[in-house]
Parts: sequence; C-alpha cells; structure tokens
Amino acid sequence: MKTLVNEYVGVASRFTRSVNLNADYSRETQDYGYIVTGNVLSSLTQILSGLIKKGGQKSYCLFGLYGSGKSAFAVYLAQLLSMDNGQGQKARELLRGKAIDPKIENFLTDRNKSSYLPVLVTGRRRPINQLVMESVIEALRQLPGRKDNLELLNELEEQLKAELWHDSQIVLQAMDKLGIASKKAGFAGVLLIVDEAGKSFEYALSDREGGDVFILQELAEHAERLSKYSMLFVITLHQQMDSYSELLSRTNRAEWAKIQERFVNIRFAEPASSTIQMLAEAIKPLKSAPKDVKQALERVIKNLLKMESIIPPGLTHESFAKSVHKAWPIHPTLLLALPYIFKRFAQNERSIFSYLASYGVTGRLAKMIFGFFECYVLVLDGFNGAERIE
Ligand SMILES: Nc1ncnc2c1ncn2[C@@H]1O[C@H](COP(=O)(O)OP(=O)(O)O)[C@@H](O)[C@H]1O
Ligand SMILES: [Mg+2]
Repeated sequence: MKTLVNEYVGVASRFTRSVNLNADYSRETQDYGYIVTGNVLSSLTQILSGLIKKGGQKSYCLFGLYGSGKSAFAVYLAQLLSMDNGQGQKARELLRGKAIDPKIENFLTDRNKSSYLPVLVTGRRRPINQLVMESVIEALRQLPGRKDNLELLNELEEQLKAELWHDSQIVLQAMDKLGIASKKAGFAGVLLIVDEAGKSFEYALSDREGGDVFILQELAEHAERLSKYSMLFVITLHQQMDSYSELLSRTNRAEWAKIQERFVNIRFAEPASSTIQMLAEAIKPLKSAPKDVKQALERVIKNLLKMESIIPPGLTHESFAKSVHKAWPIHPTLLLALPYIFKRFAQNERSIFSYLASYGVTGRLAKMIFGFFECYVLVLDGFNGAERIE
C-alpha cells in the first residue's frame, strides 16, 4: 500500500494563508507561532528606537514582496505594543533572550510608556480618508465607555455618515481626538497601521479627488509634532511608493514624492537562513518520520556539512540539522536551495510563504513542494522509504 506524504506532515496553520491585519490582530491563537527573525528584530529596533527618542522618526514604510511577512510583522508590532495581556504577553515573551537594546527592553517593560491603542487599516479600493475614519471609530469603540468617549463616538459616526471625511482636516481632527482619549485611558498614544497602502495608491489613480492620498502626509507630519500623546505610523507596500506614481502627471508625482519623504523605508526581505528556519516551522509533523528516513537525513546532513560554505550565513550547523529534521520531507539539499530558487524565479514577485499560504490545502501544498521532493528523494542514497512515499 502506498503511503502519502500528507499522512506524515501538514502545514502549520499560520502559514496556510496570508495575514489580514484586522482579523489576525484580534485572533486568539494557542499556537502563536510567530518567529522573530533577524530582519524582524532589526526592523523592530529601528522603529522602536525612533519612537523612544524625543524628536525621533515616527513614520515608517515597510516594503517587500508578497508573502515577505509585512502584515505578520504589523500584527506582531500592534500586539507587542498593546495593553492586552494575552497575545501581547506572548509577543513580548518572544523577545526574551534576544539581543535587544536595553533602552527598548526598559521601554517595553514600562507599560505606561509602551501601550499604544491600535488603529488598524487594511487598504481596499476605497478612499483612504474614509478607511482611516472608519478605523478611528473602531479604535474608539475599544476604549472604556466614558461619557466623553461616547459623545465623541456619536460625533465621529455622524461625520462618517455625512461623508465629511472628504475633507482631510476632519480625519486629522478625529485622529487627534482619539489620541487624547487614548491618553486618558492610560495609553501612551496611538499606533496607526495602514496595511496594503498600495491599494489606496491604486484607487487614487482612478479617483483623483475622492481617493487623494495626501492624508498620509498630513498624518505623518502630525505624528512628528505631537506632544500631548505619542503616535507611531506604519504603512506597508508591495513596492516602493514611486512605482505607483509612474502613471501620474508630473505635478501629482511631485506631490506623491513629498508624501514619500515623510516616511523612512524599511525593506522586508528575509535572508536565506531565516527562510530555511521558517520553512522548517511551517511544516508540521503529523506523526514521527520513519526511522530509515531519520537515518537517511542524518547521512545527508553529514555529507552536506563536509562541503565548505554550503550553509548560509546566520545558520549554525546545529540549527541547520534541526531545521532539516523539522522540514522533512523536503530534502536537505532542496531546503538549502529553496530560498535562492524563490528569490530567482519568484513568480509575480511572490515569496515562498505566499506559496505556502495559497496552497493551504495540505494535498495541494504537498503537490507543490513535494513535487520537487519526488525528484530529489529518489537520489537520496539508501532512502528505503522512497518507493513507499509519493
Ligand atoms: N516572522 C514570521 N513568523 C512566522 N510566520 C511568518 C512570519 N512572517 C511571515 N509569516 C507567514 O508567512 C506568510 C506570509 O506573510 P504575510 O505577512 O501575509 O506577508 P505580506 O503581508 O508581506 O504579503 C503568512 O502565512 C505568515 O503567517
Ligand atoms: Mg500582507
């Protein structure tokens, strides 16, 4: 009888879909599963250093391929700075033992300073002013139902209904009122995240007036000059901002360039060593690998490690061996090659993780990754299981 590969392994649930900022922020998961990679840690350090420093940078633009982990990072950041003791606590625990700046460590332990009310926007083909206004209202609903908060909620809901958000000043004022209310509720301020801001840029190309993205610049400037409360502003894009503006007239392009200047760009791209570790985490064992497979893996690891510089920088021999066992049935040689294969041949600029996400159904994922595996496994010397597993 044939044994199918997907009887042995599945894909960890967090990798079976791409992250949605709003839905994933409030999702309680048993298996938190976020991995603080080198890239995550350095991005976090850059952002939090700016936040802590008086007069430091408060607005950032994360850009990178589909599936490079921008939304997952945005969720992690929002949870890390949240007042919540569940997911927030888990997010903070992940930093334990990591080499982080003591200033940031102190900041994170002082919850008065590091609790930020999240205002989460997921870009859609709608005017960005409206989306921000809706998220401000949503954030306000999370605050305690004090009388003044309820009055403010009514006021903003009226404004939303009357579509007053066409005027960016109204949106800016709403954000400011929310900031003040957040401070009263014990937060240090607000964390505004616009995930998939590119959708707003695309929308702006079709509806020049209604879709105006000038609010992004106004909000960024607002975040820089605050004193009553603090504001951190993060947007994510799949490409650099100027790629969107190629279709604009020269005047509009100059305006968009000005918006861009307000943000510090952080490139999201994981080095090969992190991709290997993430792949290993993504493959979830359903039952233990057969003994002959484990032995075969050990042999291949041993042979591979004899080759000079085969392991990418950032991965020790031990961590590579650990990843190999976790990533079975991906052949160790393929595991080493996959990050480079995807970098080179990424279809439509998608990363390996967007593949994992889109091949959610285990069977289909198995066909994709293990399709490679089939040809590799047959050359695995002494791998007796090869005929049984397809
Ligand atoms: N650091 C990480 N730890 C664990 N999973 C991650 C990490 N970064 C990304 N992922 C997973 O990779 C997939 C793609 O990430 P996502 O944030 O949706 O990418 P992007 O927003 O850049 O398109 C998701 O399934 C997500 O859960
Ligand atoms: Mg995303």
